[in-house]
Amino acid sequence: MSKNSIDTDDLKESIKEIALYRSVIVMLALLCIAGYAIYYLAVWAGIEAHVLDWLHLVIRWAHVVFGIAWIGASFYFIFLENSLNRTENLRDELAGNLWAIHGGGFYYIEKYKIAPGEIPKTLHWFKYEAYFTWLSGFILLLLVYYFNAKAYMLDPAVSNISAGTSVAIGIGTLIIGWFIYDFLCRTSLLQKKKTFAIVGFAIITLIGYILTHLLSGRAAFMHVGALIGTIMVGNVFFTIIPAQKAMVRAAKKGLALNPELGKYAGLRSLHNNYMTLPVIYVMISNHFPATFGSSFNWIVLAVLTLASVAVRHFINLHEQGRHAKLMLPFAAIALISLVIVTSPNKVKFSSDEPVSFSEIQPIIQKRCVSCHSSKPTDDTEKVSPNGIMFDSAEEIHKMADRIMVRAVQTKTMPQANKTGMTEEERDLLGRWIQQGAKLN
Ligand code: HEC
Repeated sequence: MSKNSIDTDDLKESIKEIALYRSVIVMLALLCIAGYAIYYLAVWAGIEAHVLDWLHLVIRWAHVVFGIAWIGASFYFIFLENSLNRTENLRDELAGNLWAIHGGGFYYIEKYKIAPGEIPKTLHWFKYEAYFTWLSGFILLLLVYYFNAKAYMLDPAVSNISAGTSVAIGIGTLIIGWFIYDFLCRTSLLQKKKTFAIVGFAIITLIGYILTHLLSGRAAFMHVGALIGTIMVGNVFFTIIPAQKAMVRAAKKGLALNPELGKYAGLRSLHNNYMTLPVIYVMISNHFPATFGSSFNWIVLAVLTLASVAVRHFINLHEQGRHAKLMLPFAAIALISLVIVTSPNKVKFSSDEPVSFSEIQPIIQKRCVSCHSSKPTDDTEKVSPNGIMFDSAEEIHKMADRIMVRAVQTKTMPQANKTGMTEEERDLLGRWIQQGAKLN
């Protein structure tokens, strides 16, 4: 092929890509307009909280589905890379091959050392899963955290920043965190894998420490998870895909491939490999107050990260037929220590005086029912959170154990202590539950 015809190929490719991004942007804009119209209608009908709830559900679903597609593909390719036959009966141009059976069919895969002589007409790329995971995640962050910053980002027991500041800190963490990571990757540190891992871990822990001292524990955890996710998507978008494009371009032009390019992308891909398990752990743990609600939550975050990296390392080596004997016991010990360390302090109560339900009901009424009711009066919680209501004595009695955990032991309720619950009230409530949560 002449040089010119190849350049037109490139051009066509770029035009196609631009058209695609344009249609995605148009689609997103249409979605936003439709979303706004629906929201407007919902406000008009007085059911905005209900509609927002459904929106959360739909986007959460999309986020998980994109995430599964992305991380699933990532797991699959890591497995391929780790399990390739690299020695027996290989053609010269191959790095390895692999046989597999799945879904009632036999599959045979070959990996090239550099690139095939001719780039095939249909070449499958894996990138949109990553982009859409990030996009849906960011929309969730907006919907759940930033739109309700007062309730979800702040904790007056942690700091006195404003809602606006907390959102700026959240978004700033993602941007600055990415630049720190990207800068480190451009230094010679990138080649020193172990040192890089230690420095990266130290920085993530430091960010976790800072965030847990500015934001609510839950928001801090979420932002560390979002930062890890952003770094992973950034790796795909800013380095891995461009490197691959350059490789394809060079192969099409019959130019020698710059092996450094593939190696550079490979190292960043390796970082993503190790970040897959921590990011999932952090995202899920944000539903568990025992993790983010403990007073050393930043250490919990660090240990969770470390333990899940250890599990990933174990899996990586296992797929290569090697055994990292210490990794699983290490992860198990780390987790067991967390269970012990985060176990609620035995709360010391002021006395053993019997507490009657008639003393408790007004407290719940005053501090909890604005949110936990069939008709909440709170300005942001328009439907009872997690379906939990304290309108009747039976409902309170039924939830006594969880009330003990949330309002007495971890003090993660009332949320952000919005209703100003006092220590005396927590003490009374705790004594009443300890004495059997009797209703008369
Ligand atoms: C400002 C609103 C608000 C107030 C006031 C509030 N909660 Fe909650 N509550 C929430 C939200 C939001 C959730 C769901 C998120 C979560 O679990 O953190 C929740 C969840 C819960 C749960 C279920 C989760 C679990 O761990 O089982 C319990 C129990 C609970 N709250 C107890 C209380 C008690 C007791 C009070 C009063 C002392 C209270 N809440 C006051 C907003 C509130």
